[in-house]
Order: sequence, then C-alpha cells, then structure tokens
Amino acid sequence: GPTAVIVVAAGSGQRLGESVPKAFVKLDDRTILQHAVARTAKLPAVDVVVVVVPADLVARARLDLMFARPRVSVTAGGAERTDSVRAGIDHVLALAPDAKAILVHDAARPLTPASVFDRIIVAVSGGCDAVVPALPVVDTLKRVATDAGQTTVEATVDRETLRAIQTPQGFSVDALTRAYHAASGLATDDAGLVERCGIPVHVVDGDALAFKITTPWDLRIARGVVAESGP
Ligand code: CTP
Ligand code: MG
Repeated sequence: GPTAVIVVAAGSGQRLGESVPKAFVKLDDRTILQHAVARTAKLPAVDVVVVVVPADLVARARLDLMFARPRVSVTAGGAERTDSVRAGIDHVLALAPDAKAILVHDAARPLTPASVFDRIIVAVSGGCDAVVPALPVVDTLKRVATDAGQTTVEATVDRETLRAIQTPQGFSVDALTRAYHAASGLATDDAGLVERCGIPVHVVDGDALAFKITTPWDLRIARGVVAESGP
C-alpha cells in the first residue's frame, strides 16, 4: 500500500524568535518549509505528502508549495504538535485510505538527506511497526537540581545507552493510529506515543544534516549549509 509523509509545520517557532512562524522563515530565497518539502516530495518511495501549517497560513503555504512535484496537500494544524500530527493523520487517511506506512517529519529539519528517509522506509517496509533515526550523544550529560536559585550536579548520566532522536519517524498505519487513539497528554515525538502502547520502536542511524532548527544559532548553521551546498 501507499507510503505517506506528514510534514508538520504548524508551530510558532517561539525559541527561534523570528517575526513569522518558523517554517516560513527563509534559508535563502526559499523558506524552511519549501526546502523541507522539496526534499520530501521527490522521494520515489513516497506516494502522498501532507503538509500541516497554522490555519491562517494554509493559503500562503499552498502558493509557496505549488512548485512541488508530485503535488502536496496542505491542511491546518493545532495548538500542540500532537494536534498537528493528528490532523495530518486524518488528512492522509482521507486522501489514501489504503495507506500502509506513514512517516512523520518536522519541517524544522529541512536539510534531512534522502538516505535517512530511505533507512526508515526500508525498516517499515520490512515489517517494523515503528522506526526512529538516532544519533549518539556527544556531550557529557549530567542530571542537576536547582534549589534556592543554585544549580548543582546530582549525577553524571551514562551516555552510552542514550541517543538523540530525529525525524522522519516511520510507522505502520496501524501502530500510528492506535497510538494516537490511545494518546492521553502530549509527547515531544510520535514514537513516544507508540512506546506507551507497548509497541517496540526500532532505531536506525540518523544524520547530522537532519538537525532541527530550534534556535537562532541553528538557523545560522542551516543558512550556512544551504549557501555552501546550494538548495
Ligand atoms: N509543530 C506543529 N504544530 C505545533 C507545534 C509544532 O506542527 N502546534 C511542528 C513545528 O512546526 C516543527 C515541529 O513540529 O516543524 C517540531 O517542533 P518545534 O521544533 O518545537 O517547533 P515550534 O513548536 O514551532 O518551535 P517552539 O517550540 O520554539 O515554539
Ligand atoms: Mg515546539
């Protein structure tokens, strides 16, 4: 059955602090969202692309994404990322009721290489219900406690068993819909909801280029990469 990608772009980008929502900030002559969709839409293994944006920017996003081939479908998101993904799932299932696999991808990771999508799609096609891309943690990690304005270290955490998780995250439609039906409360990623259903989540290699643009520093790096490698 078809494979769909949901690109979630309905956040406000508070930590980035630009005057427009994050996905609509430019990297060069193109926005973060245009870069993310350009890479996603042309993947041969992807049949359907659904883009989720703030409700008041649906028309703007449709215009911005007219270039995309195959065409992408734009819908409105919600207040929390979980709401936006849920809107994306509903939209995918309306467009492609026979969808087998759904990847959920942050627009805020516009430079994610095709190889990461490929690893996720291969694993889901191979029968994994849930797959996430991961990178080793490079910094030393410590648990801290703050008391009366003073922060002190409680412990150094063993980073060997820790991973930094990226997107796209891939799921069988069954696992993702089950997780979102059962979902109570919010999660910072989709696999988090799937884990709560007791479904095993597999890990494949991520990529440094799949980093998320969160802060002004990240935006600087992304603009530098685009300037040096072209769009
Ligand atoms: N996202 C979304 N709908 C929301 C919140 C987030 O579609 N209500 C998307 C963002 O657009 C982004 C991805 O989820 O592509 C990852 O979220 P994050 O990096 O936290 O983006 P923002 O929520 O926009 O940023 P911030 O938390 O700094 O406001
Ligand atoms: Mg956020």
